[in-house]
Amino acid sequence: MDRRQERKSRQDRTVKATTNVVQQNFKINRTKRQSLLKQKPLLVWFTGLSGSGKSTMANLLEAELHASGYKTYLLDGDNIRHGLCNDLAFTEKDRIENIRRIGEVSKLFLDSGVIVLSAFVSPFAQDREQVASLVGKQNFVEVFVDCPLEVCEERDVKGLYKKAREGKIKNFTGIDSPFEKPKNPNLVLKTAEIEPQILLSNLLDYVEPKISVKANVEV
Ligand code: ADX
Repeated sequence: MDRRQERKSRQDRTVKATTNVVQQNFKINRTKRQSLLKQKPLLVWFTGLSGSGKSTMANLLEAELHASGYKTYLLDGDNIRHGLCNDLAFTEKDRIENIRRIGEVSKLFLDSGVIVLSAFVSPFAQDREQVASLVGKQNFVEVFVDCPLEVCEERDVKGLYKKAREGKIKNFTGIDSPFEKPKNPNLVLKTAEIEPQILLSNLLDYVEPKISVKANVEV
């Protein structure tokens, strides 16, 4: 099954699974939670090759936002794959499912009023677009952590590129599995060229006006 068929078959199963299930509405909704937390929820989605610096940048951003009093949560590929997604491998089918689940989890966190930082390779453009549609494009910021493959491979912090080159890991992004660069990201972080602290201030300049209640008078 190719990627398109995979997504279609999942949609068909979803229609079946949700027939006869009626959604409930509760008294406390997103707007009320937002007012209580005094912030506007946002999903900041970091995409890029393994070793490009997604987790590093998400970690720096979260620390800064936390210190400023924002309620945040960081979802990270390496961690989530030890829990929620520990039944998934790195085939196209499993990566599609991985990102679908993270999209749904991110949506729940947004509904709870929290600012979400998600750091996943998320190599397929269509899956990233689906997450944006799921949470609403106005709540989604795509950050392309743009680091050349040669640099990621040179760093090889986890020793995975070496294993992939030796054929010990199959379907490794950038080696024998594709990465579709974002065509129109909100931000590009050139981690091989620019210091993390400067990239962090670029991130803050972009993100803070979107999450601050002061900057968003309608909340
Ligand atoms: S994704 O493609 O489904 O979005 P995800 O971000 O969850 O990937 O996990 C990527 C992490 O898993 C990488 O940072 C790397 O440490 C590890 N990993 C193990 N095998 C692979 C592989 N075949 N391709 C990419 N990353 C892999």
